[in-house]
Amino acid sequence: MAAPPRLDADALACALAASHGIDPRGSLTLTARFELALAEEPALAAGGPAELARLAQRLRVGETRFYRDPPQLEALFAWALPRAIAAGKLRVLSAGCATGEEAWTIAAILEEARQARPFTWELNGVDALPESVERARAGRYPAEAIARLPRKLRRHFELHGEEASASEALRAHCRFFAGDLLGAPLYGPFGLVVCRNVLIYLEEAAARRVIERLASQLTRDGVLVVARAEVPIVRRAGLSPRQLGGEVVAFKRSGAPASTRPPPAPRAADRPPLPALELHDQGPPSRVRLDVDAANVEALVARGQQLLAAGAPMIEVRVSGRLPAAQLEMIAATLRRLVRAADALGARCVAADDATARTLAALGLPISTR
Ligand SMILES: C[S@@+](CC[C@H](N)C(=O)[O-])C[C@H]1O[C@@H](n2cnc3c(N)ncnc32)[C@H](O)[C@@H]1O
Repeated sequence: MAAPPRLDADALACALAASHGIDPRGSLTLTARFELALAEEPALAAGGPAELARLAQRLRVGETRFYRDPPQLEALFAWALPRAIAAGKLRVLSAGCATGEEAWTIAAILEEARQARPFTWELNGVDALPESVERARAGRYPAEAIARLPRKLRRHFELHGEEASASEALRAHCRFFAGDLLGAPLYGPFGLVVCRNVLIYLEEAAARRVIERLASQLTRDGVLVVARAEVPIVRRAGLSPRQLGGEVVAFKRSGAPASTRPPPAPRAADRPPLPALELHDQGPPSRVRLDVDAANVEALVARGQQLLAAGAPMIEVRVSGRLPAAQLEMIAATLRRLVRAADALGARCVAADDATARTLAALGLPISTR
């Protein structure tokens, strides 16, 4: 029987970045985990969808703890709680909740505030790793794990010997579900989305997609909070920063909130002549059409990468209209990632027509037509 195909480490890294948004070359931690995974499970080098999913699982860093970054939490809730009390309600998403320590910390903060001044609250936790979600849902931890919480928050956990368990009062407001922030439904809108220590492990295009998706789940006044180290990533993605207390920078969405109806589309005559790219794979129904600008070429390539990872054998790129000159370099670099991803996954990236092939060749991307 023929040995399964093996990708070299670079091709495998490209394939993983394309399929799951995790670039093993992105940090020393990820590189070390990647090398260890391949040493322990050499079959993962085959690089098929199952092997990539397993690699992603091994590279996801689940480190977390109760009451992580107290100054940030304190500044955040000094801002958020009076608003929640005034509004009478708050829905929160802990995005990338890992085994639940962050989510239960927030739950305890909210319940403590609710008992003083009633308002309704709900907390949703989501993570890509189902086994982490199971543990988050169980809400049981070694007793020493909750020692980090201030005393008044600790009372929302029941001690049974060496184990601390979230109280029924907390549990009544919390639910956890497994899902990938790159594509799963997130059940917004939320007044607060906390996504800390997740984006740093993602490749830039994937991080942007996650940011866009989370921002689209915010209410009009809602904010997205990330870890301090991740603030530059969100700034680059174009969200509007806002200062909460001296400590925290949170982000507001820039467009209309998810809960409101979108404004009517402009009449054709009013619309600026936007250049467009069209991507589609070979099988229905995954057909995508997006107008290209600095913001959405990333989303388009992320979508193309998703289609490739889902097994699309070919991605057709069509460029129509004039590409904005100031963005040519960025667009070329972004599309180049798509081509590399296709190569790494044994798929093809082709130009849909001669005009596209000429435009891409002028950008230094020699993609032939079918
Ligand atoms: C380092 S932990 C952070 C946990 C918590 N937010 C904190 O700050 O303590 C990162 C978590 O994000 C999850 N994660 C990474 N990429 C994800 C994705 N695309 N979708 C959902 N969860 C993801 C990982 O599984 C991991 O549990």
